[in-house]
Amino acid sequence: MDLDHVNKILITCAKGISPFLEKEIRDLGFSIESAHQTGVVIRAAFIDTYRLNLELRTAYNVLFLLREFRCASPADLYSKVYQLQWENIIPNGEYVSVVSQVSNPKIKNSMFANQKLKDAIVDRMVKKTGYRPDSGPERRNIVINLYWKNEKAWIYINTSGMKLADRGYRKIPLTAPMQETLAGAVLLAAGYTKDMHFLNPMCGGGTLAIEAALIALDKAPGLLRSNYGFCHLKNFDREYWRKTRKERLSACAKKLPKKIIATDIDRKAINAAIKNATTCGVDHLIDFKVCDFRDTEVPEEGGIVILNPEYGERMGKINELAGTYKEIGDFFKKKCAGYTGYIFTGNLELSKKVGLAAKRRTPFFSGDIDCRLLEYEIY
Ligand SMILES: C[S@@+](CC[C@H](N)C(=O)[O-])C[C@H]1O[C@@H](n2cnc3c(N)ncnc32)[C@H](O)[C@@H]1O
Repeated sequence: MDLDHVNKILITCAKGISPFLEKEIRDLGFSIESAHQTGVVIRAAFIDTYRLNLELRTAYNVLFLLREFRCASPADLYSKVYQLQWENIIPNGEYVSVVSQVSNPKIKNSMFANQKLKDAIVDRMVKKTGYRPDSGPERRNIVINLYWKNEKAWIYINTSGMKLADRGYRKIPLTAPMQETLAGAVLLAAGYTKDMHFLNPMCGGGTLAIEAALIALDKAPGLLRSNYGFCHLKNFDREYWRKTRKERLSACAKKLPKKIIATDIDRKAINAAIKNATTCGVDHLIDFKVCDFRDTEVPEEGGIVILNPEYGERMGKINELAGTYKEIGDFFKKKCAGYTGYIFTGNLELSKKVGLAAKRRTPFFSGDIDCRLLEYEIY
């Protein structure tokens, strides 16, 4: 396939994040064809997937459409997939992984569709090249996605390979971490820029502070990773990719004009946050401290302060947490004048204990939990 071949590109994201993803895509100069709760569709050239993978903070996968067709049965799927020229896409000896999402009353198990899809690709490769590609669940090489809804099917090359949310900097698992792409979307929703101080008490593993540092440096999150699905394809332009990355790297800022402060009462959380920030290369830009959230340093000149307290679903108990939410409200009122305060929570009952009227409530999901980013103007 030619790198300048133009077709639909489906960019997927976590539920509810698509308004932020849409904005990111528009800011890169693409126009949107359609958007839904878990994805955005654009039309662009295959080569554009390099830049989309590199730049997008809130996307999961960048999927380039190979073919859409009517598909009435598994046999139909096999024959239509077999007709695609896989020998022009997959180099000999590459490892291929297939992922299927099926919503068809006749197909009870999407593993069956997966098997048919894989067989068609492998059989075609054997016939045309004499080589049988290895295949399995690992998404570190070539990934092919199938969506099959009723009588219609779409086959995509997953140019990301592994999810873009897996930036690779989170080395120490902690309880209830915020996903990297969700943290990116929360910061975009809060309008964070490098020109404001950013305070993140209750920082846990530091995801929000680390994502803020990346935004402030204008560092494309994709620079943190070197392995993408498109790197394994026959049409991979290694030199163009090297040049694109190099130019993007030199466009990043080197230092920050304002502060990023991340604190947590738990020493283990701060140790993990420092380790994560070090892996990400932004540890020197964040002031970490072990302390109660109320003792977080609040520099003058204002900025934004975001807290992601426990909300009783995965940690802590709701009654015990009511006092904490009230104390967050008191902290905002007593110490954070001139700042815009945010609480990210999955428990709206607890948020009523804050004792301040939220000026804006932005809906999000953390997994399947209905969450809100609550905004408070603090005078
Ligand atoms: C839901 S986790 C935050 C997760 C974080 N957003 C991340 O991505 O890892 C809540 C954090 O609040 C911290 N915490 C709880 N009570 C605290 C308090 N009184 N002062 C400071 N931190 C507190 C916990 O140690 C925990 O790390």
